[in-house]
Amino acid sequence: MPDSINSKDPSGDLSAKDPAEKPQVIIKDLWKIFGRDPKRVLKKELRNLSKEEVQKKTGCIIGMRNVNLTIEKGQFYILMGLSGSGKSTLIRNIIRLVNPTSGSIEINGQNVTKMSQENLLQFRRKTFGMVFQHYGLLPHLTVLDNAAYGLKVKGLPKGERYAKAMQTLETVGLKGWEDYYPGSLSGGMQQRVGLARALANDPEILLMDEPFSGLDPLIRRQMQDELVELQEKLKKTIIFVTHDLHEALKLGDRIAIMRNGEVVQEGTPEEIVTQPADDYVQEFVRDASPAKVLTAGSIMEAPKVLLYAWEGPKTALTLLRSEKRNAAFVVDKSHKLLGVTRADRLEKLLEKEERPKNIPSELIKQVSTVTEETILEDMFAIISENPYPVPVTDEKGKFKGIVTTDQIFESIAPLEGENHD
Ligand SMILES: Nc1ncnc2c1ncn2[C@@H]1O[C@H](COP(=O)(O)OP(=O)(O)OP(=O)(O)O)[C@@H](O)[C@H]1O
Ligand SMILES: [Mg+2]
Repeated sequence: MPDSINSKDPSGDLSAKDPAEKPQVIIKDLWKIFGRDPKRVLKKELRNLSKEEVQKKTGCIIGMRNVNLTIEKGQFYILMGLSGSGKSTLIRNIIRLVNPTSGSIEINGQNVTKMSQENLLQFRRKTFGMVFQHYGLLPHLTVLDNAAYGLKVKGLPKGERYAKAMQTLETVGLKGWEDYYPGSLSGGMQQRVGLARALANDPEILLMDEPFSGLDPLIRRQMQDELVELQEKLKKTIIFVTHDLHEALKLGDRIAIMRNGEVVQEGTPEEIVTQPADDYVQEFVRDASPAKVLTAGSIMEAPKVLLYAWEGPKTALTLLRSEKRNAAFVVDKSHKLLGVTRADRLEKLLEKEERPKNIPSELIKQVSTVTEETILEDMFAIISENPYPVPVTDEKGKFKGIVTTDQIFESIAPLEGENHD
């Protein structure tokens, strides 16, 4: 396919997946109430009261209210929400550092809420890697020992754990730093050690609670880029907490927005930005640029004229003229895009004595294409260099539709226009 630009897959479906496969994480009706006798809050007369009212009446704090979520294997899943909205509580419940008050958590088909303490420890070590905002490194241990720490706890022999830790340190770009102590590393590097430690165990699920919040903006962006690259290779399931919308949009396949312990909206970055469920979500996304989330597939349309390569040049010209077009895309019999042809060129051809039966290939100019998943921001370069609409094709090069410059700007403008009070 010529010059195709591929962006991240908004469905998060990065690997070929058995459609019958169950989601890796299934959270059902999950409540966490902090305080004395928390179960009483679940009773009919209390459960529908607001968080403040419950606190006033009972002294109990609602950490999570009736959360329902499913997370697929390999998905980059974002939890967002204001401080105190329950993001960390949800993460802690998933690994059962905190026990839910009611509801269930199923991971890889196993009900974690019912697991015995002994099984839980093993399950936690095997399944999860954790990275938190405060790196949680042990200052008296070297970078290598820190990275190998989880493996030591797991009981792996020294040679093996060092070999694995060296490997993950290399993965996160810290080769050569093994013998230093955390104190001599920058924040970004310390967080890389945290990430290496989480990855050393080769966990299926990475839990990351605001891992980049303590970093300077530039380092933070760099870490995000590296995580995107790493995830491309590792394809872990990642549950990632952030306050930062742009971080969420850049990293996430799906986003859940929490308020007062509840999930108020869940969807792809595009859905969240273009259809915020209420004012709270709207407030979160007001600074979002639709260009970063809207995809070509969501705004493409059918062209007024589409030419078929086997049509004669005269037919093609008549079609173009009847729709007052100067150019149109041409496809072959399998609907594969061949390129664009122009009316003035066809006219010239028809002035010649010998007319070809089909539109000749010299008159079909190859053009840059995008796929349905390409985000609008990645199309700016193409529309600036190209007088034609941008054709959208699938991975086999089959023509799907077109996106015009006007459509791009129209779909960006209305939302940005709302960005004032
Ligand atoms: N151990 C606890 N005891 C009592 N209340 C708690 C406890 N842990 C959390 N909470 C309460 O549960 C609610 C959710 O807290 P949580 O830490 O999950 O929020 P968060 O979304 O992670 O916030 P932040 O963005 O500030 O980290 C808050 O009201 C908090 O006060
Ligand atoms: Mg938190």
